[in-house]
Amino acid sequence: MALTKKQAVALLIADDPRLIAGLLRQADAARKKFMGDAVHVRGVIEFSSYCRRNCLYCGLRCANRHLRRYRMSSGEIYAAARHAVALGIKTVVLQSGEDSRYGGKEFCLLLERIKKLGLAITLSMGELAYRRYNELKSAGADRYLLRFETSDPALYAHLRPGCRLKERLRCLGWLDKLGYQVGSGAMVGLPGQTAGSIADDVFLFKELNLDMVGIGPFIPHPHTPLAKAAGGSLELALKTVALTRIATKNTHIPATTAVGTIDSQGRQKALRCGANILMPNLTPAKYQKLYEIYPDKICIAADAVDATRRILASLGRSIADGYGHSLKRK
Ligand code: 5AD
Ligand code: SF4
Repeated sequence: MALTKKQAVALLIADDPRLIAGLLRQADAARKKFMGDAVHVRGVIEFSSYCRRNCLYCGLRCANRHLRRYRMSSGEIYAAARHAVALGIKTVVLQSGEDSRYGGKEFCLLLERIKKLGLAITLSMGELAYRRYNELKSAGADRYLLRFETSDPALYAHLRPGCRLKERLRCLGWLDKLGYQVGSGAMVGLPGQTAGSIADDVFLFKELNLDMVGIGPFIPHPHTPLAKAAGGSLELALKTVALTRIATKNTHIPATTAVGTIDSQGRQKALRCGANILMPNLTPAKYQKLYEIYPDKICIAADAVDATRRILASLGRSIADGYGHSLKRK
C-alpha cells in the first residue's frame, strides 16, 4: 500500500524508538529487495569552489570572503579521474559551485578524454542553459545531480536569493529529456522547514521518477547568515532516507557525506536504512579542505577505496561491479 502524507509526517515526527526502528528496518528490506547488497562507489572530484550564487546555507556562497577559492585545471581533473580508475572506481562525479569558467568547449573535450578511460561521468555543476546541458551530454556526461533542496517554493526562494524552485524543476525536466540519468535531493532540518514539507520532498522525489536521490542534514556554516541556526539531526536524515527508499523503491540513494559528518557512524547507519551508494572524495588533498560547503566535512580521501571497503565489510556488504546505471524504466 502506498504511503500517505499523513503517515509520512507521523513517522517524521515520531519519537517512539520502536516505531522508528520499524521504519528503518522496512527501508532496509526494501533496499535489499530492489537494489541487493552490493554498494556502488562513485568518486567525487570537487573541481571548483567558485560560485555565483549566494545560498544562505552554503559556505561556497559568493559573499563568503573567508574562503580561499580554487579552480582545478583540465589536467588536474583528468589526473584525478585516472586516480579513480586506478582505484577501481567506475563513476566520477564532477562537482563545483556555479562557475561559468567551466561547461564550454575545453570542458567538453575533457569529458571526452575522461570517457575514454572507461568511466561513467556524473556532473553536478548547477543550473545551466539547455544548450549547455545538451553539449555536455553529447560530450559524454551520463548523469547529472541537481538537488531541489526543498520542495517548499517560499522557503526555496528565501534560502536561494534570486532563484526559483520552478526554474530548478525546469532544469531537472530538461536533463531528463536530454537522456541524462537524473539525480536530485534535499537537505533536512533547514530553518523554517516543517515535517509536512519534508514529506512533500519525498513525494516529489517519487513524482520526478529520479534515478538518484541524495539526502543530508543541514549543517550550519559559521560564515553564512545561518551560522546561528540549528542543524538537522541524524535521526531526521535517516528517517527521510528510509521514507525515500520505501516511496521510490529502486532509486540509487547515497549515504551522504553530510550524514557522515554529523555522526561518525552516519553513513553506516544510512546504508542500513535504505542507502546503497558511497561517494568517496577524490579531490586532490590540497583542495579538499577548501571546498567547505559546511564545516568539518569528512572525506574518505587518500585511502578512499580501502576505507570504503572497511565500512562495507563491517556491514556485511560488498562493492558492486559494473557502473550502477539507473534501474528506472523511462
Ligand atoms: N549543510 C548541509 N548541506 C549543504 N549543502 C549546501 N550547504 C549545506 C550545508 N550548510 C548541500 C546542498 C547542495 C550540496 C552540494 O550540498 O544540498 O546541493
Ligand atoms: Fe553555490 Fe550550490 Fe553553494 Fe548555492 S548550494 S552557494 S549554488 S555551491
